[in-house]
Amino acid sequence: MNSLVRRSARQLSLWRSYCVKHGGPEAASPGRPNYEEFIGRHQRQARCSIVVQVSSEKSYPELYNYCSRFGSILGAHHYCVRQDEALHYVLLEFATPDEAAAAIGAGVSNGDLSGVPVRSPFLWFRAAGGGRRSPKLAQANPSPQLLSLDGNRQVEQSHLLGLLRGAADIEEQVQLLHEHTRLNELGVRMRFLAALQVQQAIAGMFPAAQAQPFGSSVNGFGRMGCDLDLILRFDNDMGAKGSREAADPSRLVYHTKENLSNGRSQTQRHMECFGDMLHLFLPGVCHVRRILQARVPIIKYHHEHLDLEVDLSMSNLTGFYMSELLYMFGEMDPRVRPLTFSIRRWAQTCGLTNPSPGRWISNFSLTCLVMFFLQQLRQPILPTIGALAKAAEAGDARVTEDGINCSFARDVERLGFRSRNQSSLSELLLQFFEFYSQFDFHNRAISLNEGRPLSKPDHSAIYIVNPLEQLLNVSKNVSLEECERLRIEVRNAAWVLESEVENASPPESEGQELSWGLLNLFKHPEKAVIRPNMFFKPRMVEVSDLFEQKETTTGSNAPTTT
Ligand code: GTP
Ligand code: MG
Repeated sequence: MNSLVRRSARQLSLWRSYCVKHGGPEAASPGRPNYEEFIGRHQRQARCSIVVQVSSEKSYPELYNYCSRFGSILGAHHYCVRQDEALHYVLLEFATPDEAAAAIGAGVSNGDLSGVPVRSPFLWFRAAGGGRRSPKLAQANPSPQLLSLDGNRQVEQSHLLGLLRGAADIEEQVQLLHEHTRLNELGVRMRFLAALQVQQAIAGMFPAAQAQPFGSSVNGFGRMGCDLDLILRFDNDMGAKGSREAADPSRLVYHTKENLSNGRSQTQRHMECFGDMLHLFLPGVCHVRRILQARVPIIKYHHEHLDLEVDLSMSNLTGFYMSELLYMFGEMDPRVRPLTFSIRRWAQTCGLTNPSPGRWISNFSLTCLVMFFLQQLRQPILPTIGALAKAAEAGDARVTEDGINCSFARDVERLGFRSRNQSSLSELLLQFFEFYSQFDFHNRAISLNEGRPLSKPDHSAIYIVNPLEQLLNVSKNVSLEECERLRIEVRNAAWVLESEVENASPPESEGQELSWGLLNLFKHPEKAVIRPNMFFKPRMVEVSDLFEQKETTTGSNAPTTT
């Protein structure tokens, strides 16, 4: 089938210009932040920011002028939260944390004393006395610019499809999909503010506490509207290390409460208590749910001022380091993220993934499949995690509280890894589907540590070795039926895409419903037809049958929260 894929000169030149624009392997990319710098920059931005509810974006000039008295405003983003009617908010970024703190400190409680008087970066802007504007302030700076207007809005499906229809080729479709659905700058800022709110709420008792975002909010694989995964830690590594290593350690030692003998029940008790605190005291936090029996106990809540779902954990540091690995993979080559977005979108539209956890493949497992595919190519696009671990130096050493080694080289340059793979995105997409059409899920496990398939250690339907806890299977939850559906869908996708890649560019006719390239991969599952199998003995299962099966069995197989 590979012979059907011909790299056109146009594709190659597109790829080169894409590399130059996005800092890929063919372009030097010295200015890009590493994960810790990225996290640090956004944490600081959050400390410099406040969110103010306004009656509409028209209030912005007045708000800007009012808040300028606290410091210089570097940027402002407007967004709406749509309930019965749209609620408007402006996120203001000051030049320094002190200026933001001054603005927060100047806030007052609600005049009628309703509401628990809690101080947080979430405020509202009330009308000036008597509802009149202050003309003097309004003139102080007449042309403040909102950096984004309704900047948290997800692109409409019809608009997105129109964009994809109008693209020049599949290459451009993949890039457009990525550009228009990925989490934007405002989305990242809002997630770091949610984290800061939790951290500040407990800062009195736990001054070293850190609420760290991880997962798709920060690993560069998040789409607009993705949830926020948050880990709350009482102490950070640096604090513990610093005091241990100090030449003259303090002789004053804090009195503390005794730890419970069972660490897991202690975490559950603490989380129960935090759940109550979030629910009772934190502005914006609502629908708090405690899921404490899961492997990783979490508290879920909704943030109504940010329109955000949050999963808070206190004991999943490997997830945090896993996000760093994914971030690094995404930064290593500009094809990695657009390719993953297309595959995740495809999986979503054919019902392979589902927003709630269950016996279907998760976005995270799917992302691992993509990373593995990119590692095992004859000309690999990504290095193995084993190679990264081997290149780790003293400064890369990270061990979680439960002793899990998460050390790997943070500076990829040291690895000396350079990909010579020049495949276009459409070629890679097709190769991905071909690869998994032929993958022996029955006998082989996927190891990102080694970048090659291993013998499967147990009978799980899909076995993806957990990169940081190698005795665990990331996709343990996936049922045999779901694995079978995945195999059917990747075969279908390979079949559809093969002819699309062959044609390379959109058909000539200009129809409203014109569907080509990626759009044919994203067709609704009911319309999917099982194609004759190119690699296996055909097994003619109708996708619609599988959907019925799913519906009848969902009730008896309650989703497990991980
Ligand atoms: P979406 O929430 O679907 O957008 O993707 P996500 O990547 O955020 O996935 P999820 O919220 O399920 O998990 C959050 C993060 O936890 C992932 O990005 C991983 O970094 C990490 N994670 C999830 N499951 C596992 C696992 O089984 N092992 C390890 N080591 N990390 C995991
Ligand atoms: Mg997530």
